[in-house]
Amino acid sequence: MSTALVTGATAGIGREFAVQLATKGEDLVLVARDTARLDALAAELAAAHGVAVEVISADLSDRAALERVAERLRDPARPVDLLVNNAGYGLGSPFVDTTVEDEERLLDVLVRAVLVLSHAAAGAMTQRGSGRILNVSSVAGLLTSGTYAASKAWVTTFSESIAAQLAPRGVGVTALLPGYVRTEFHERAGIDKKRTGPFWLDAPDLVRQALADSERGRVVSVPSPQYKAVVGLVRHLPRGLLRNPRVTALHRKN
Ligand SMILES: NC(=O)c1ccc[n+]([C@@H]2O[C@H](COP(=O)([O-])OP(=O)(O)OC[C@H]3O[C@@H](n4cnc5c(N)ncnc54)[C@H](OP(=O)(O)O)[C@@H]3O)[C@@H](O)[C@H]2O)c1
Repeated sequence: MSTALVTGATAGIGREFAVQLATKGEDLVLVARDTARLDALAAELAAAHGVAVEVISADLSDRAALERVAERLRDPARPVDLLVNNAGYGLGSPFVDTTVEDEERLLDVLVRAVLVLSHAAAGAMTQRGSGRILNVSSVAGLLTSGTYAASKAWVTTFSESIAAQLAPRGVGVTALLPGYVRTEFHERAGIDKKRTGPFWLDAPDLVRQALADSERGRVVSVPSPQYKAVVGLVRHLPRGLLRNPRVTALHRKN
């Protein structure tokens, strides 16, 4: 029996990771801010799949709370075999309309938390010579839409970098690049999107593919043929075109 720690497990993609991992018989450590939702999901998964489920109620933008999660990852008595750095959100407003505190908090969750938790997990996993880290990035990281896109570019590059360093020590690292996924993300960010059409994915399909890619040792996972095509195209477009306000507006997260 192995254990997975999933951040942002109360909704959307993170919740689906928790469900699919529990279905495979994995014990879980679920992390998010909403304690009532964490407890309800833990009870549901433990009853349905007979797995052990711990919860850690933590705001990952809070340094002390983040450290509690890192400590759990370092605990040699209760090894975590898979870390899924998934928690995240978008601001939904242009840069000049947010406060600098909003932007810093976003960086804390999308970048600093991924850095700190990956470091804690990598240390423990390399000592044991096994483990996997799956960082939820975004296709937006290839584009130019504010701090959100810049953070996701960091997540992808960071994951590729540590993947190369950790592979010889038995630890696999995967960056997952979703496109649009039907979750609470857009509603929470106040982004009005229709959520229909070929570019909208469902979390179950996305997570199934992501877990298969992580198990196979893929460093970058882009689920769905449509987004494989988008990523292939975007990588060859001139950056000047991607900075065009009309193009940016198509994918703006903040
Ligand atoms: N949906 C998309 O179209 C899309 C596309 C590309 C990438 N992504 C990425 O996928 C990941 C998951 O997003 P989602 O679409 O599943 O969104 P979601 O449905 O809104 O879920 C976000 C999760 O993150 C948690 N979270 C947010 N802020 C947090 C904080 N400060 N501390 C701890 N947990 C926090 C939320 O839990 P609590 O509120 O309980 O804390 C929730 O469980 C994010 O990294 C997002 O950037 C999403």
